[in-house]
Amino acid sequence: MPPRKSPSAEVVLDVLEALPPGQKLWVRGVGADLAPLLRSGDAVRVLRGGVDSVARGDVVLVRQGRRLVAQVVASTTPWRTTTLVGAEDRRGGEVLGRVVALRRGRWVVPLPRPFRPALWIAQRALAAAWARPRTRLVYRGVRDFFFSGWSRPLRRHLVGALEVRLLRAEDLEALLVFAGERLVVSASFLRRQLRERWGLDVASRQGAAAGALDARGRVHGFAWVDSYRQEGLPLDGVWVRSLVVAPQARRMGVATRLLECLLAEAHRQGEPRVQADVDEDNAASLRTFEGLGFRRASEALTRRTNEAWDAAGRSKKLVVLERDSGG
Ligand SMILES: CC(C)(COP(=O)(O)OP(=O)(O)OC[C@H]1O[C@@H](n2cnc3c(N)ncnc32)[C@H](O)[C@@H]1OP(=O)(O)O)[C@@H](O)C(=O)NCCC(=O)NCCS
Repeated sequence: MPPRKSPSAEVVLDVLEALPPGQKLWVRGVGADLAPLLRSGDAVRVLRGGVDSVARGDVVLVRQGRRLVAQVVASTTPWRTTTLVGAEDRRGGEVLGRVVALRRGRWVVPLPRPFRPALWIAQRALAAAWARPRTRLVYRGVRDFFFSGWSRPLRRHLVGALEVRLLRAEDLEALLVFAGERLVVSASFLRRQLRERWGLDVASRQGAAAGALDARGRVHGFAWVDSYRQEGLPLDGVWVRSLVVAPQARRMGVATRLLECLLAEAHRQGEPRVQADVDEDNAASLRTFEGLGFRRASEALTRRTNEAWDAAGRSKKLVVLERDSGG
């Protein structure tokens, strides 16, 4: 049985490096290079070992700065790794081990050594297909349709009505199922926060989590608002975190409703402003926040936020947005 929780990539880096060769560890948050085989909330089991323990077609975990990424080995001399689809070259980095299993929700998929030729053939076939402009066009067309307004009635029908509300302690199991598939946040963190802060009664609640739940209590969207200082980051005020809507429920106003719910609760708790930091290339998220009246924060706050995250080991540039909670 895999462990119930897997620590995030940043937390696990030091543990992994100290692990003797031959030992295994579950790791989450290992990038998007293995998409669609691996989604953001999935975990990989890594067999600790160096570059001499892997061969072409293996899936490896590579350290790039403070980031951990899972990639396919394209060649060992010279050393070259690629993405699963698209065969984009990824150079550099230090090999920390071979990926021997993937975990999605409750499912564990072993990646035994004999699987290597099959994965390599699949990777080459995907690369060859991807090289044809027509394939890329069709893929983008299908993807755009899936997330577009055109498919909205169909998706609305499949998902059913969603209730957006603050999460309570009894929502924990449903939240952990969603988090296991879509979030890079440990189960223990969510459990503790929901029990000790977000799920308390109105008088003692601190911060808050909001979820979009269907008629069977399944979570299709989630976000929370809380103080960064509580997580050890030197930034004042409260910040929106982990905003994620499941693909089937996107472009239906779910993120907008989640944010409205959190803004109202922050206002009730006496927080005058709510802030958010978003990857600069995340157009969907930026538009969602801007649609609700969030505006770009001052250069000073943007710089401080990026510095705080750089120091915590994250390298991607962030845009900082803010809004009055009651506005
Ligand atoms: C970003 C995200 C949370 C948006 O969720 P959502 O429920 O689809 O957002 P909404 O339906 O409330 O969209 C609000 C508006 O934002 C804009 N928007 C949202 N997604 C968009 C997209 N993919 N492309 C263009 N505009 C988009 C639109 O203007 C939209 O209004 P409209 O549908 O009436 O045109 C969702 O795409 C997601 O989970 N992405 C992956 C995780 C992520 O990036 N999280 C943000 C981390 S900061």
